[in-house]
Amino acid sequence: MTTPFKDGFAPVSEEITAFDLDVTGRIPAELNGRYLRNGPNPLSLDDPSAGHLFFGEGMVHGVRLRDGRAEWYRNRWVRSARVAERLGEEARPGPVHAGLDFSANTHVIGLGGRTFATVEAGALPYELGYELDTIGACDFDGGLPGGFAAHTHLDPVTGELHALAYFFGWDHHQHLVLDPKGVVQRVTDIPVADKPMVHDFALTERFVVIYDLPVTFSMAHAERGDRLPYAWNDDHPARIGLMSRESGDLRWVDAPPCWVFHTLNAYDDGGEVVVDVVSYPRGFVDARLDRGGRPTLDRWRIDLATGRVGQTRLDDRPQEFPRIDERRTGRPHRYGYTAATRELVDVVGGELEDLPDDAFDNTLIKHDLRRGTQESRRLGRGAYAGEPVFVAAGEAEDDGYVLSFVNDPSRGAADLVILSAQDFTGEPVATVHLPARVPLGFHGSWIAD
Ligand SMILES: [Fe+2]
Repeated sequence: MTTPFKDGFAPVSEEITAFDLDVTGRIPAELNGRYLRNGPNPLSLDDPSAGHLFFGEGMVHGVRLRDGRAEWYRNRWVRSARVAERLGEEARPGPVHAGLDFSANTHVIGLGGRTFATVEAGALPYELGYELDTIGACDFDGGLPGGFAAHTHLDPVTGELHALAYFFGWDHHQHLVLDPKGVVQRVTDIPVADKPMVHDFALTERFVVIYDLPVTFSMAHAERGDRLPYAWNDDHPARIGLMSRESGDLRWVDAPPCWVFHTLNAYDDGGEVVVDVVSYPRGFVDARLDRGGRPTLDRWRIDLATGRVGQTRLDDRPQEFPRIDERRTGRPHRYGYTAATRELVDVVGGELEDLPDDAFDNTLIKHDLRRGTQESRRLGRGAYAGEPVFVAAGEAEDDGYVLSFVNDPSRGAADLVILSAQDFTGEPVATVHLPARVPLGFHGSWIAD
């Protein structure tokens, strides 16, 4: 069996607990909390789950920072019933939606003092304890009618957490709003044709922005036994939905055909809605996630009067995992952070062979979208630079830190690199030396205590 779990994605086989980690530099004393990151880590490369990047069992890696020290590192598999059984443990109690008990592998977020590993396409989140032990699957006390979503957006002013769930068994998407305590406040079904995949969405002060793109459920691929039965569908027109957060009214506008995994941010700008995304020129080929072409950082301007969508390229270097200062979610932003990591982009983009290595040699990028400039921090071969997560410190939009797991090939282990966002290419503020590799993964969060 060919597996994508090689090189940077090669899984680790052990769960480790390490205390009082070595640090180069000084960890800012204001960083009290945990940096957590989820990703697929198959229990065994012989398992079917090792055949597709999206199906590896979820493993959360975490570092706890406290009073200027790196108190611990832990990595733990998310115990779905199957994972618990394989590890010789009792299954955790908890709800299951539509028989989809899945070791959530895509994101990890904090909400209401709790920690959740999340995934999409019908499965429920798993709740984790502070030290990353699995508590159980969670439907927010029965508040979820179905599954949840990997990506959520928290309105920094109202405190509402928004999510957009999809499931191949539904003829609709489902928009969910949770309050800051994790109570589901609102559920709105949004009819859609062809059961499209939707990995992310965007939030402005006025709208929930829904991407209805030509990647849809494929019965032919399902019958063939493909693990990810979604395919590019030329018969499905690309649209963007603007759902009023106030009235719930929904309006669709035609969009350029493309595929989008991730939003950088979106905001209202007078008679326009601005949406910054990483977009791929086309979607999956043959039910695989790869060969979507080169992902670029693009800006859509949606004219509310005409319904026209203008598209401009903010950066054509292949990159992914866009993040912002989340105090700006839904509001105008100036800065963004992305990762240009070959192993990462290769899996989903394909056709990158003709690019020079230095086009994205494990580079973290800080974008200044007002000036149209970028600062690039190159981390070198084998660094497997992951998603850059911004943590605010002061008032200014880039007054804070950027955290990322970066592999150190000379040690055969990873570092948690803490950069000053305002000195993005300078010496790291601190480098926390972990005792083991951290494979490339998906998404994470800084969860302050
Ligand atoms: Fe994602």
